[in-house]
Amino acid sequence: MVRLAMLCNLIMCGIVGYICKHEASPILLDGLRRLEYRGYDSAGICLWNKDQFQILKKTGRVENLRKETLKHDHSGQAGISHTRWATHGGVSDENAHPHISWDNKLSMAHNGVIENFALIKRELEAKGVSFTSETDSEVLLNLIAFLYDAELKQNHATADVALLKALRGALSQVEGTYGIIMTCVDLPDLIIGARKGSPLVIGVGDEENFLASDVTAFAGRTKSVVYLDDGQVATVSGTDFFITTMDDVAISPTIDTISWDIEDAEMGSYPHFMLKEIFEQPMAIENSMRGRFSQDNSTAQFGGLNIAPRELRQIDRILFLGCGTAWHACLIAEYLIEKYARIPVEVEYASEFRYRNSPLDKNTLVFTISQSGETIDTLEAQREAQRKGYRVLGITNVVGSTIARENDGGVFQHSGPEIGVASTKAFSSQCHIAAMLSLYFARMRDMSFTDGKEIAKALKAAPGLIAQALSRADQIAEIAKKYAHHDDFLFLGRQMMFPIALEGALKLKEISYIHAEGYPSAEMKHGPIALISPDCPTVAIALKGEIFKKSLANIQEIRARKGPVIAITDAGKDFPEDLADEVIQLPETHEVNHAPLVSIPMQLLSYYIAVERKCDVDKPRNLAKSVTVE
Ligand code: AGP
Ligand code: GLU
Repeated sequence: MVRLAMLCNLIMCGIVGYICKHEASPILLDGLRRLEYRGYDSAGICLWNKDQFQILKKTGRVENLRKETLKHDHSGQAGISHTRWATHGGVSDENAHPHISWDNKLSMAHNGVIENFALIKRELEAKGVSFTSETDSEVLLNLIAFLYDAELKQNHATADVALLKALRGALSQVEGTYGIIMTCVDLPDLIIGARKGSPLVIGVGDEENFLASDVTAFAGRTKSVVYLDDGQVATVSGTDFFITTMDDVAISPTIDTISWDIEDAEMGSYPHFMLKEIFEQPMAIENSMRGRFSQDNSTAQFGGLNIAPRELRQIDRILFLGCGTAWHACLIAEYLIEKYARIPVEVEYASEFRYRNSPLDKNTLVFTISQSGETIDTLEAQREAQRKGYRVLGITNVVGSTIARENDGGVFQHSGPEIGVASTKAFSSQCHIAAMLSLYFARMRDMSFTDGKEIAKALKAAPGLIAQALSRADQIAEIAKKYAHHDDFLFLGRQMMFPIALEGALKLKEISYIHAEGYPSAEMKHGPIALISPDCPTVAIALKGEIFKKSLANIQEIRARKGPVIAITDAGKDFPEDLADEVIQLPETHEVNHAPLVSIPMQLLSYYIAVERKCDVDKPRNLAKSVTVE
């Protein structure tokens, strides 16, 4: 665990297996390209052809691998592939996946971490097994291969029985997380997969099937998907598939249908997914509201909470858990629910909650927020809360994700796939759902019909307001040009705008590699004011309302110290001329819309600064979209 803690900030990778109607290589490359947001250190493909494995692996992006495939006669109608986010072993061709077992019988791609790999490796080496990479994954593969060989030789089992037995035997010995796909020379018509802690789904096509980390891998080829659970093993041929438990008990699968189209997972005419997703926000917010207001328009309603109003009335406290941007959405939920529903709310980093053993009141309701629904810290925090008997509801974007399947109910965001590593539309939609939840809880308590109607009406106006904010894009691109060379930024906001300042700073850090800090505006004078200089611009949020004047005073304090100020305001002419170097004006609206609305200029500013600095916006260094190990 200590060793992992050093690595474990951001990990995942993409795996895709395909069998068997068409030439596999272009289909696998296409799938990898769409999964590249999950990791991009190296990529590899292993095809099965003419009784042998044909393997190509290359450091760098999937595009490098694609170019490499053009140089070779690389063909076959079944294969597995991987795009890596390295954990064990450097970024090299040798460490790239898929790996081939030491006896050349099996190939495997792995997402996750095998924690006890060193011990198993020593034991296998002592038995004569050799290794060609430094990865933990190859250890799991060679352990399976070793046990497979023993099953064949000692127990004279048939290849399929022997392989599944060896797989289960090996998986019972390893500690850690895995989503694996593998092929075997003795079973050329099958791809086998298993999962624990890392996602794996079966794409059910027309005489072709997939095993992949994520449904985007087979977008455009099939919309039918089976989500595997932890502890399940899948055997997939071109025309069929079987799922069993680790104890070899058959599972009858549920085939779900993906609700979005291939275009949603492609960039279209946008230069980056992030920009596309920023501009999709009016639609994402609209989708988060569909069917979620009562007929009399006085409250929000949620079909999937699975909790009766009478029970909800008993709730004394709500605990929100999430990581990164989702944690910022939790803070927005805290502010809104406490203000409108008067229910005390606590917010914790999911990773901290897991190990902190915090005392919870028995009438506490727990919420997790996660775009991907796969973040391991959030998932484990959810499991920990459920283990203690708490009901856990979730706000999740990815239908079929582990968090969504394991929680006791919740709200799907319906934002569509978010591919850019920096979360944008998922965040604004989480904030909007938090506002709808606050209305729902408030109407169940003290909020009047009339006040409820007013808030519902305000919420419904959000997509149009966000579209207005997006129309500032050109102005913000110009501002970005002017300030992109700075290496430090401060982001300030008061009350509910404080988490938005934190989120603004995180966005800038993530994609521009600029040091940025978010603070409540008034806290600045307790320390961060020392950073103010002509070289450290401040993005200051100053919205109308009871603390507007205080926010203006905070800006004065920055200006007095010659700090450049980019102000974001809804005050129109009430914002004093010349107080800030740049003023981004937003439409005035009810407070319940502030969080998504003010996020827009923050996101655009980070985006355009990153573009100015020639950063890889959609795939920032060291990051991956969701973090599936601790
Ligand atoms: C968002 O821009 C970040 N890449 C990251 O903080 C992210 O929000 C976090 O890892 C949580 O992800 P989740 O919402 O998928 O759980
Ligand atoms: N731990 C494996 C490696 O470092 C897999 C990492 C991943 O999920 O990409 O190769």
